[in-house]
Amino acid sequence: MSSRMVCRVYFSPQGTVKKIMDMIAKQFHGIQLICDLLKTSKNEEVELSKDDLLIVGMPAFDGKFPSFCIQQLQSFRGSSTPAVIYVAYGEGGYGTTLKELKTLLEKQGFHVITAAAFVCSQMTQRSSDEEDLKKIKEFTEISKLIDQHFSENYTETLELPDDKSSPKRKFSFRPTANDACTSCGTCVSICPVQAISQKHPQKTNRWKCISCTSCIHVCPAHARGFYDRKYERARKYFTSDQIVKKSEIFY
Ligand SMILES: Cc1cc2nc3c(=O)[nH]c(=O)nc-3n(C[C@H](O)[C@H](O)[C@H](O)COP(=O)(O)O)c2cc1C
Ligand code: SF4
Ligand code: SF4
Repeated sequence: MSSRMVCRVYFSPQGTVKKIMDMIAKQFHGIQLICDLLKTSKNEEVELSKDDLLIVGMPAFDGKFPSFCIQQLQSFRGSSTPAVIYVAYGEGGYGTTLKELKTLLEKQGFHVITAAAFVCSQMTQRSSDEEDLKKIKEFTEISKLIDQHFSENYTETLELPDDKSSPKRKFSFRPTANDACTSCGTCVSICPVQAISQKHPQKTNRWKCISCTSCIHVCPAHARGFYDRKYERARKYFTSDQIVKKSEIFY
């Protein structure tokens, strides 16, 4: 068991998904392989055996996981390999994120043993509170237990919900930079879809940009942001008449 591979795969522009991943994955023994989809541009194939473990964390973007990640996720191949999956989302709902992630991974040869939806978003100012932290710990314990009993003959199939409360609207806001921009290029190199011009980093190609917010978080001059009234409206939408959500675990 000591040569077991624990493969962490995540996309985390604002850091919440990664924070949760660190909490969960460190509780599983094995050689930790870290695949940060924001930093890995090449799609190198990763093959995992039935004795390994895959842990995938995604944010909910418009009720789905970012489509930009589909191709990257397809480079992971399992062989009846157990997989633990989770989504981090705001108060807007996670829609079909978990369901679609499970379908994709099963096509790649993984067996999803546990899933969770954690409410934690910087957008709504709700970072994990005590209850959410407890849920993350509980999820880790349950996943460990099921993983220990997992074998090739494991037949349990997870039924995952479609969170109907997820937003009915798409967010079309794109970040730009203000006068504080020093043209350092940090945002250009982090952008996963090459939407920022090397020559004029203040500009964003709105057709390429997926609004992931990575560039905002890495900008050392704090020049990048959503300087658009649409963003304020969207933020209000998330924080106003939404039902307060609770983190959920499925197993
Ligand atoms: C483009 C975009 C779309 C989003 N869509 C949703 C959504 O549909 N539902 C929701 O509850 N939160 C939504 N959020 C909030 C993120 O899911 C949430 O902030 C998540 O924790 C981000 O993970 P990260 O901190 O690892 O980047 C969205 C955020 C962005 C930037
Ligand atoms: S990271 Fe900030 S300061 Fe640097 S080029 Fe981008 S917007 Fe300008
Ligand atoms: S320009 Fe758009 S896609 Fe690129 S890092 Fe910024 S928010 Fe993400």
